[in-house]
Amino acid sequence: MKLLTFAVYMALFAVSSCIADFPQLSALRSKASSETQGQAVHGLLKRLIGERVSDFDIEIDSTLGPQDTFKLSSVENGRIKITATGGVAAAMGFYHYLKYFCYGQITWAGKQTMLPPVLPPLKTAVTISTLDKFRYYQNVCTLSYSSAFWSWERWEKEIDWMALHGFNLPLAFVGQEAIFQRMYLSMGFTQKELDEHFGGPAFLAWARMGNIRGWGGPLPQMWITQKLMLQHKILGRMRELGMVPVLPAFAGHVPAAIKRVFPKANVTRLGNWGHFNSTFSGTYLLDFEDPLFQTFGKTFIQMQTQEFGSDHIYNADTFNEMRPASSDPDYIAKAGKSVFKAMTAGDPQAVWLMQGWMFLSPFWQAPQVKALVTSVPKGSMIILDLAAEIEPVYQKFESFYGQPFIWCMLHNFGGTMEFYGVIDNINKGPSVARNFPKSTMIGVGVTPEGIHQNEVIYEFMAENSWRKEPRDVYTWLSNFTQQRYGQLNDDVNNAWQLLLGSVYNATDAHRDHDLVMITKRPDPKYDVTSDVWYNPEDVFRAWDGFVNASHALQGSSLFHYDIADVSRNNLQLVALIYFSEMVKAYKAKDIPTIEKNSASIVELLSDLNDLLCSNERFLLGLWIADAHFWATSTSEKTLLEYNARNQITLWGPNGEIHDYASKQWCGVVKDFYKPRWEFFSNWLIQLIKNGTSWDSYIFREEIMRTVESPWTFSTYPQRTEPSGNPIVKSTELHAKYRPVTKNEFFRKIWKDIQIGKKSKKGLGLYVAKISRMFSL
Ligand SMILES: *[C@@H]1O[C@H](CO)[C@@H](O)[C@H](O)[C@H]1NC(C)=O
Ligand SMILES: *[C@@H]1O[C@H](CO)[C@@H](O)[C@H](O)[C@H]1NC(C)=O
Ligand SMILES: *[C@@H]1O[C@H](CO)[C@@H](O)[C@H](O)[C@H]1NC(C)=O
Ligand SMILES: *[C@@H]1O[C@H](CO)[C@@H](O)[C@H](O)[C@H]1NC(C)=O
Ligand SMILES: *[C@@H]1O[C@H](CO)[C@@H](O)[C@H](O)[C@H]1NC(C)=O
Ligand SMILES: *[C@@H]1O[C@H](CO)[C@@H](O)[C@H](O)[C@H]1NC(C)=O
Repeated sequence: MKLLTFAVYMALFAVSSCIADFPQLSALRSKASSETQGQAVHGLLKRLIGERVSDFDIEIDSTLGPQDTFKLSSVENGRIKITATGGVAAAMGFYHYLKYFCYGQITWAGKQTMLPPVLPPLKTAVTISTLDKFRYYQNVCTLSYSSAFWSWERWEKEIDWMALHGFNLPLAFVGQEAIFQRMYLSMGFTQKELDEHFGGPAFLAWARMGNIRGWGGPLPQMWITQKLMLQHKILGRMRELGMVPVLPAFAGHVPAAIKRVFPKANVTRLGNWGHFNSTFSGTYLLDFEDPLFQTFGKTFIQMQTQEFGSDHIYNADTFNEMRPASSDPDYIAKAGKSVFKAMTAGDPQAVWLMQGWMFLSPFWQAPQVKALVTSVPKGSMIILDLAAEIEPVYQKFESFYGQPFIWCMLHNFGGTMEFYGVIDNINKGPSVARNFPKSTMIGVGVTPEGIHQNEVIYEFMAENSWRKEPRDVYTWLSNFTQQRYGQLNDDVNNAWQLLLGSVYNATDAHRDHDLVMITKRPDPKYDVTSDVWYNPEDVFRAWDGFVNASHALQGSSLFHYDIADVSRNNLQLVALIYFSEMVKAYKAKDIPTIEKNSASIVELLSDLNDLLCSNERFLLGLWIADAHFWATSTSEKTLLEYNARNQITLWGPNGEIHDYASKQWCGVVKDFYKPRWEFFSNWLIQLIKNGTSWDSYIFREEIMRTVESPWTFSTYPQRTEPSGNPIVKSTELHAKYRPVTKNEFFRKIWKDIQIGKKSKKGLGLYVAKISRMFSL
């Protein structure tokens, strides 16, 4: 037994030996005492299971393992003891017990935490160690696409979720505008100049990265102040639980007024980002060799540390989706050195965490990447290999030339809602990366642009922190469904198996963020097959399975969410038939057929809206209510609601990034997508009558002016309570639309994909598109 334990330790040590090469990273750890961490976990359990927390003993013992480790065992009086190296490991231990011994689950859509009256005993102790030092969570965009308007109550839930799922290195980006404001005002900038610099409440992520400036603002002072206070709570809780929060650092972007305040400042104006014009884009970047760069960088860290303290790790993304002024490796190395020097001037122990997203762009070849990542001492930088499940870049760049990296799953863009996942890569990728020659991998991460969708993928990914080998995904899935609903049900289990083998098995890493026809601005040139990379019949059969299971699982709130979500995804597929018929009819100048199919789409959108209204996870009203929550005046309320509505539709004053973060929500489907489709079919009919041809520019201007833009400015109240029962609605819609799916249309798409007649769009296309979009 002893020998075996020793062997396990040795194996762990071998896997993790690289962290020992980076003493600065080994030193990154929470300053919270064992007692504090134990109490924080006790509080977390109390929030989840109330009084039953007394059935668990929690003990923090940092000597338990070299990496985060938990040990579960049965002790007297039927209680379960969780011994763990820290707060996060203890929370992971609880979640492991909940999942694998009590059939429970905790996800964004809800929780299944019904414990049996007597906790199932453990015959032998269960010990699990994480394989790497870090588990990273969040994308800089998540803060805008999903958590923009969260109150402390919602943040508290999310931090609980992070701990349960093992994340110990969370991005902590809330409230940074208060520090930037303090710094800039102290240097002589005026508030008006900052109003033109900070982004609006729903667009801070991109203003922070220097992609845009001022758009959606001016940022109200109450927001800046309230978010500062919120950040104190967030950091407090993260630290108590033993996490190491990642704070922002100065990346070089400065307000346009820099030349007024510092006439000698050497700044360049960056190109416009996306389709934004120079009113809200074209940020000013301070030259790396300008001494002011050091002043700003150092002052920012010092002021931030004074306010929040520090855990010595900072994120700065100077070149995210922005082309550097020169591709000369010397220039890039100097830039890197300068960013880091400014960081260390403020905090000598600073570690720089950087998103490696831009390395997917053709600008970043080996000499440029090497220049940047080796511009700072080894172990003083952590690179997030941001979309490693679709295109890992560590392989292309020799494990980042010796700098440590984290294998991250990006999974989605804009938090859109269609079913999607690259299950096989997520299963295999992390272990392949750990075993890569001279691997410098030090963790796994989850970096979605948005959350609240595809929960199965996140549950699966989180276990990569301790699973050494790829597992049989279908066995894992049976465990998942049992945990999700608290019982095993064959109908729903079969349905999930069908989804896993189809929508969640995107083998060619197919991803086009334009997915989902109904949420896109209509265009007769839209290729409906780009919505499909799997056999649609599998998804329709999965729908059957959910309906079949609905009697047995009617008591599960997660089932209510899931059946609505599955029905939603099915309806979005059915709409493809009507659309493709409509386009055919347009080409044949057949007005009655256009009208018929248009009526079908409109009816389907009404049905979809009703369905979504029946579950609280799909309500536009709650997104808006969360935005209103922060308002202290009518004008603030108006600004917040406009931000909330614009981000999920036009994304910019003129639809610059329109439909990128689309949401199939009750309220949006009925009042935004439906009128848009009505407008489109009328337009096609008029074109035929007028004898004119399709001009996408004229169409865009008209639909934006008459349908889209007015919706973003509207303020009529939206429902904040669900109405109806998603099981009843889903069953009705299944009866109505399932027969429609038995259509040659889908068989043909699938056949074309199988014989390779339709090329499955791969990531290459996606990258090319992103590169064009962001002028990389
Ligand atoms: C840029 O877009 C804004 C907002 O739509 C518009 O008001 C402005 O005139 C445009 N500016 C330029 C320089 O085209
Ligand atoms: C200003 O910065 C640019 C590059 O950003 C550099 O080429 C130039 O030499 C700098 N000018 C001065 C006066 O330092
Ligand atoms: C859960 O997974 C274990 C192996 O990890 C397997 O033995 C068990 O059968 C699974 N449960 C179900 C319901 O499939
Ligand atoms: C995904 O599809 C590939 C290719 O068809 C297949 O080899 C693989 O087993 C599938 N994976 C799952 C989880 O179904
Ligand atoms: C659902 O039930 C129907 C009728 O009993 C059956 O024909 C069908 O195979 C079931 N579907 C699934 C996916 O379980
Ligand atoms: C069709 O012609 C009418 C009358 O000239 C005009 O008002 C309308 O805008 C035209 N429609 C389209 C879609 O071009």
